[in-house]
Amino acid sequence: MRLNEKLAIVTAGGSGMGRAGCELFAKEGATVAVVDINEENIAATVDAITSDGGKAKGFKANLADVDDTKRVIAESTDWLGGLDLLWSHAGTTGPSAFEDLPMKDYEFAMDLNVRSSVVCASESIQHMRRRGGGSIVFTSSMGGLVGSTMSPTYSVTKFGIVGLTMSLAQRYALEKIRVNAVCPGPIETPMMPSFFSRPGDEAKAEDNLKRVMGLVPMGRVAQPIEVAYAVLFLLSDEASFITGVPLPVDGGVVCR
Ligand SMILES: NC(=O)c1ccc[n+]([C@@H]2O[C@H](COP(=O)([O-])OP(=O)(O)OC[C@H]3O[C@@H](n4cnc5c(N)ncnc54)[C@H](O)[C@@H]3O)[C@@H](O)[C@H]2O)c1
Repeated sequence: MRLNEKLAIVTAGGSGMGRAGCELFAKEGATVAVVDINEENIAATVDAITSDGGKAKGFKANLADVDDTKRVIAESTDWLGGLDLLWSHAGTTGPSAFEDLPMKDYEFAMDLNVRSSVVCASESIQHMRRRGGGSIVFTSSMGGLVGSTMSPTYSVTKFGIVGLTMSLAQRYALEKIRVNAVCPGPIETPMMPSFFSRPGDEAKAEDNLKRVMGLVPMGRVAQPIEVAYAVLFLLSDEASFITGVPLPVDGGVVCR
């Protein structure tokens, strides 16, 4: 097994890519703390893992809130008995508007997409250090590698994640804590349609979808498991000399 006896936290583990990751990591031998804001989603992920013989427990938290984020990292690490692996995956689509920018939506995207990853990682590192190392994966986006006309501020948050990845990778390299990111293209999850019809942009949903699909050389959207496999590799010891990498999982979008 590729994550045998590893102790893992996955944020936004209740749905989509996060859920696919939780299930895959548990199959590969990890004990998984499933962090999410939605209790039903958490229960579905934990049930799927435990009924398959895996080890998991759910932890409810609002990762847009700093105190709640700190609390949940502490509680889940206590339950795990340490920490080797963190996939900080939670995020939101951000506003489509740029002029007359709705500051509340912008701030929410900064809080959930950037600050939650900063806080999750900063609270996790002490625990990884105690275990002699660890591996962190953040979720950026293809919008973290190339600009997004549909939401410039979403792109700001996801470029921020790439900067965080590269900075922490250098800072903690000698402590054997590797830090990488995945940069997904369009992935078929409950969140995907909301990228194409952000508030105020609903009428453009079909055009937006067509335009984005026109950017994908592989000509299709991906399934959540295709991202989960990339994260599994980056978390595992197979990626032992890989750190600071924002890995596109995008059917070729950013190589165009
Ligand atoms: N789906 C895509 O096409 C795509 C592409 C690129 C990047 N992403 C990134 O992937 C992540 C979203 O993953 P997904 O597509 O698997 O989404 P999803 O909709 O399947 O799941 C999102 C999960 O996040 C949880 N969540 C929402 N707000 C939360 C909060 N405040 N605190 C804790 N949990 C919260 C939800 O309850 C849900 O279970 C985001 O970081 C997003 O930017 C998605």
